[in-house]
Amino acid sequence: MKKAYLFVLLVAAIAMTGCRQSTRVSSPDKTIELSFCLHDQVPYYSVIKDGRQVLGTSRMGFDDHKYTMVSLRSSSKNESWETTWGEERIIKNNYRELQVTLRDEQNELMVVRFRVFNDGIGFRYEFPGEGGSFEICNENTEYCFTDDPEVWTIPWRTPYYEGLWEKSPMTALRDTLCSPVTIEYSNGSYAFLHEAALDDWAAQNFYVADGAEPSVFPVLGTYLTPWSTGVSVYGERGKTKSSWRMLILADNITELAASRLMLNLNEPCKIEDTSWIQPMKFIGIWWAIHLDHYSWCYRLLDEKGNVIGLAPKHGATTENMKRYIDFAAGHGFGGVLAEGWNEGWDGDWTSNLASFTTPTPDFDIEYLSRYAKEHGVQIIGHHETGGNIQNYEQQLDSALSYYDRLGIHNVKTGYVHAKLEGKEWHKSQYGVRHMNHVIRTAAANHVCIDNHECVMPTGLCRTYPNLMTGEGVRGQEWDAWSTDGGSPAQHLCVLPFTRCMAGPVDFTPGTFDFSNPIHPETRVHSTLARQLALFVTVYSPLQMASDMPESYMQHPEAFRFIEQVPCDWEQSHVLDAKIGEYVITARQDRHSSDWYLGAITNEQEREVSVDLSFLDKNKNYTAEIYRDDSQTDWQQNPYKIVIEKRTLTASDTLTLTLKAAGGAAVRFTEL
Ligand code: NOJ
Repeated sequence: MKKAYLFVLLVAAIAMTGCRQSTRVSSPDKTIELSFCLHDQVPYYSVIKDGRQVLGTSRMGFDDHKYTMVSLRSSSKNESWETTWGEERIIKNNYRELQVTLRDEQNELMVVRFRVFNDGIGFRYEFPGEGGSFEICNENTEYCFTDDPEVWTIPWRTPYYEGLWEKSPMTALRDTLCSPVTIEYSNGSYAFLHEAALDDWAAQNFYVADGAEPSVFPVLGTYLTPWSTGVSVYGERGKTKSSWRMLILADNITELAASRLMLNLNEPCKIEDTSWIQPMKFIGIWWAIHLDHYSWCYRLLDEKGNVIGLAPKHGATTENMKRYIDFAAGHGFGGVLAEGWNEGWDGDWTSNLASFTTPTPDFDIEYLSRYAKEHGVQIIGHHETGGNIQNYEQQLDSALSYYDRLGIHNVKTGYVHAKLEGKEWHKSQYGVRHMNHVIRTAAANHVCIDNHECVMPTGLCRTYPNLMTGEGVRGQEWDAWSTDGGSPAQHLCVLPFTRCMAGPVDFTPGTFDFSNPIHPETRVHSTLARQLALFVTVYSPLQMASDMPESYMQHPEAFRFIEQVPCDWEQSHVLDAKIGEYVITARQDRHSSDWYLGAITNEQEREVSVDLSFLDKNKNYTAEIYRDDSQTDWQQNPYKIVIEKRTLTASDTLTLTLKAAGGAAVRFTEL
């Protein structure tokens, strides 16, 4: 139970940059200590872990405001909560809180709420009062590092976050960066800098500020994504809260991946009846469109926009959809996505005026939704807005209730355009507000969201678990059409510790045909076994298997793993990894005692030894192993796979050879 009491000033200490008195709060296990102070009416904080200074005295606050102290309060919480779906069923939430109330020179109050967990810290700004609007241009929050660690980053302007994460020493950073940033220390410990519960605020980015004298180490400053007006945040007193600024601190890679700090900083579930929210795997009329076998558009237009005929390869047809539904029903998939199903995709669909309640004449959605239901499958809806928010918001209620009536409870949303409404960044407060409005409206209509071209997730799925998954990643679709040859194998050994730390990812694993007739120079850098492993490596409760039924039927034995692997977990563990090199993940099914293992490597072939002590000690397991063969070669012979059964126990070690760009997937069932 939350227990609040008046804070007693703990220690007066001489802090690093002249803070004469600081107030401290420690993690429940006392390993992490956060200090707060006011110096020359500017708020500062610093962080120590295991006696080592992680962040030196770092500035806080907004614009040119000066603050005076009003009060200090502390409290604590120690609870466990159950996830609606997730990588883990039960999450422990244990922290100590320090609430600092400050008053600015205009007599307005600001609360800084710190929480210190055993695995890191979080803090947010709150603006109490009774109404009254305010504007923020600059957030002054800084992170003064005391070391020169390696960092994994993407530049802040990376369109839709769809870039390859790069590693560099922090001192070598020049560009402004997206949040999150993953930090690798030379002693094998890690940090993860991001934000949580981004609701009515602007997404943060980080710029490299000058190091605070006499430090030679870098300082990351906060750059809030602005509106086109130049203002970053439009706030209202009594209502507006910043997202939580958070820093996970982990002694090793396993602890980093296990941290649930971001989810813990979000509010509990606000949806009372979550029975309609169902994790599932799905397929779709999708990869074939990206490979140009089919088109999104139904009609052909000339340059002036006049209809000159019907598109010869329209993908979302009644007949095609039935074929996909039949396949889904026969192979353990819960849903089928159809893109290009609605009017408005003809011509340049990125600036379209789509109708979200009018199917194309060749897509009989009423019939198909009945047909899908009879076969125990759901249609996955699709709302590609082309960034045209006004057009979408005008139709949002009717579009979602239309889907609800048809029994469509999952919708992939999309915002393909450099700017929303042609002028606002996706991750500005404008974009954040819109996307969260969609999530709330969808919840009211029993619809789950797979958000493409999203704002980087921040754990809001705890509060609104109908926000199931999202993009914000250079996903597998890039390997269909990018002209740079496709994503290097390293990419997927980086994502679990960068993008995936921010929440579920619609990466779309499961490509079974690596040929690419349109862009022969581009391909998925993978072996077949690795495509299976990705269903364990990359977490998404709505997990799309990318390829076409005809591709899956070319390798039915390997496909069995995809049919069986779940996407909702009782517990998950990264057993071993090196960012950018290899990742070994084990997860236990939430609805059976089965365990699954996924191991992947970068461009280097390697042998890994997997300690199976995560299995139940008293049981024998049948392990169905899908692995690269000695002859497997991702370029010359990618489909070669060994599928074998072994009996294994918790005291065994499983040795696997992962070929370059290869991997292994294992299903453990109790004997
Ligand atoms: C980009 C999305 O990432 C992709 O999955 C989708 O097919 C297209 N937009 C069309 O909405």
